[in-house]
Amino acid sequence: MNGLVFRGIRDIRYEPVPDPRIEAPDDALVRVRLAGICGSDMHVYHGREQGLDVGTVMGHEMVGDIVAVGSAIQRFRPGQRVGSPFTTNCGGCFYCRTGLTARCECGQLFGWRQNGKGLHGMQAEFVRVPKADSTLFAIPEDVDDREALLLGDVLPTGYYCAARADIDSQSVCVVLGCGPVGLMAVAAARYLGCQTIFAVDSVPDRLSMAAQFGALPLDLHKDEVAASIMRHTDGRGADAVLEAVGSPQAMRLAYELVRPGGVISTVGVHTESGFAFSPAEAYDKNLTFRIGRCPARALLAEAMQILRAFREPIRANFTHELSLSQGAEGYRLFDEKREGCLKVVLRP
Ligand SMILES: NC(=O)c1ccc[n+]([C@@H]2O[C@H](COP(=O)([O-])OP(=O)(O)OC[C@H]3O[C@@H](n4cnc5c(N)ncnc54)[C@H](O)[C@@H]3O)[C@@H](O)[C@H]2O)c1
Ligand SMILES: [Zn+2]
Ligand SMILES: [Zn+2]
Repeated sequence: MNGLVFRGIRDIRYEPVPDPRIEAPDDALVRVRLAGICGSDMHVYHGREQGLDVGTVMGHEMVGDIVAVGSAIQRFRPGQRVGSPFTTNCGGCFYCRTGLTARCECGQLFGWRQNGKGLHGMQAEFVRVPKADSTLFAIPEDVDDREALLLGDVLPTGYYCAARADIDSQSVCVVLGCGPVGLMAVAAARYLGCQTIFAVDSVPDRLSMAAQFGALPLDLHKDEVAASIMRHTDGRGADAVLEAVGSPQAMRLAYELVRPGGVISTVGVHTESGFAFSPAEAYDKNLTFRIGRCPARALLAEAMQILRAFREPIRANFTHELSLSQGAEGYRLFDEKREGCLKVVLRP
């Protein structure tokens, strides 16, 4: 088969790779209908996140059809249309039982191989899914392929970010980053009842999208972001800052914008070794800080509800569909945010 392979920084190639096959009784083999490019792929693409083996198939967002199952699989059979979270999970360990499926004791991240171990990704014609009974989910008929692809990553991640921010109808909330994840965080904050949501980015198209989800857009380069938030809160700062960027600059801005006693909830992938604020600064603001990988599989029901509540603006997120063979161009488009690029999907 062919897949998009990591060859080095800013070097993704469409190449022949070995066909995946059933290796364990709890595996399933899925033929990919659509694969997505995620902001997390960009950390590897730019070399901010290191350690990925050259030759790894990229990607962790897909929707596809089951083509084969191992002998222990009970919930799925060939022909079923399925989605997948970006990590596998066993369903039985402490973390899976308590809703933190992203930290399953034997969980693996799709598209992450290091020192010869790990899983190939989903930007390929086929993908092997371990622990398939507890990892994969069937897709209802009324949910199309593009929508289904969001259910495995950006929708639950946006929800996770908002759900951990202690927001209610009275909260003033700021979302940093209006990429696909930040936009879903705006939708989720609305879904949770929040009325006042500022959305910050520097890309005009993305700010307009945030407005379509009901946020008040603030341009990082043109508007006085901090002054606007302070003006709106009698000089206190925001009750909650939802960080969906994944950079030390954004983390610092989150700290500047949050009020004493407020919450920073971040889902941006952080690869730096220190915090953008000190323990003393956190103490001085009585800060609550939440961070980490989204347990997407455990949040499927909430993600589905947000999808159904925001269908129209969510559909407008899909700005580019290319064939998988044009994947390298898809990475460049998404990276450079050319042609209003917001979400790129690739069709094998
Ligand atoms: N925690 C998880 O489980 C999880 C899951 C999916 C994605 N992520 C992470 O979420 C983040 C966002 O993903 P995405 O797909 O939306 O990526 P993206 O790159 O499309 O979006 C990031 C946005 O942030 C904007 N931005 C950059 N610096 C900023 C700043 N200082 N203030 C405000 N906005 C700024 C950019 O213009 C861009 O629009 C990434 O770090 C990604 O790795 C985490
Ligand atoms: Zn992702
Ligand atoms: Zn587990």
